[in-house]
Amino acid sequence: MNPAVVAPSLLAANHGAFAQGVRTVEEAGLSWLHVDIMDGHFVPNISFGPQVVADLRPLTKLHFDVHLMLTHPDRYIEAFAKAGAERLTVHVEADHDVAQTIAAIKAHGLTAGIAMNPDADPRRVLPYLDSVDLVLCMTVFPGFGGQSFIPSVLDSIRFIAAERSQRGADFRLEVDGGINVETGRRCREAGADTLVAGTAFFKAPDRKAFVNALTA
Ligand code: DX5
Ligand code: ZN
Repeated sequence: MNPAVVAPSLLAANHGAFAQGVRTVEEAGLSWLHVDIMDGHFVPNISFGPQVVADLRPLTKLHFDVHLMLTHPDRYIEAFAKAGAERLTVHVEADHDVAQTIAAIKAHGLTAGIAMNPDADPRRVLPYLDSVDLVLCMTVFPGFGGQSFIPSVLDSIRFIAAERSQRGADFRLEVDGGINVETGRRCREAGADTLVAGTAFFKAPDRKAFVNALTA
């Protein structure tokens, strides 16, 4: 079992002060930053692009866990690699050759993840499990922070966790959307080890206590 990682989502930080958001994550003692990239097409919202990643890169050693909510993620791999991302996760539902995109991400020296929406049949990601370092089970429909956790995804998490142990694989199993102490605990019980938290992290009165509770 991988050690638990909490990855705060930059989407929930003040967009006029991303550098401060990065410091807030560092001050909580964390090492990952989840970076949500939205194109207004794959999802009904626009967030920010590779320039934000590039400008934050010299400010921090945080691991940039970049979640691409893009119709054509394959067109942006080079831009995010150059910007300093370490990890790129792409959706199985997007319009691309998934295997080719994963290969291209790895060819750029980055780690690759595969994401699926809450209503996806988890069997859709089976062909990619041997070539990724992370599987992201979305626990809300992507597009916006602050939504409510969708409990039916717990079945998909259990399914992927069972596949992982059956294969003796060690990819990370990430959850994203509506994660708080209670929903995070349920995801971890189901086999998730990587917890994205946007609203609950940035709004927590005591962020270190929040992280400790999530990883306990
Ligand atoms: C949703 C994004 C999430 C989002 C999570 O499309 O992928 O990463 O920022 O935010 P919360 O934790 O507020 O649900
Ligand atoms: Zn995300």
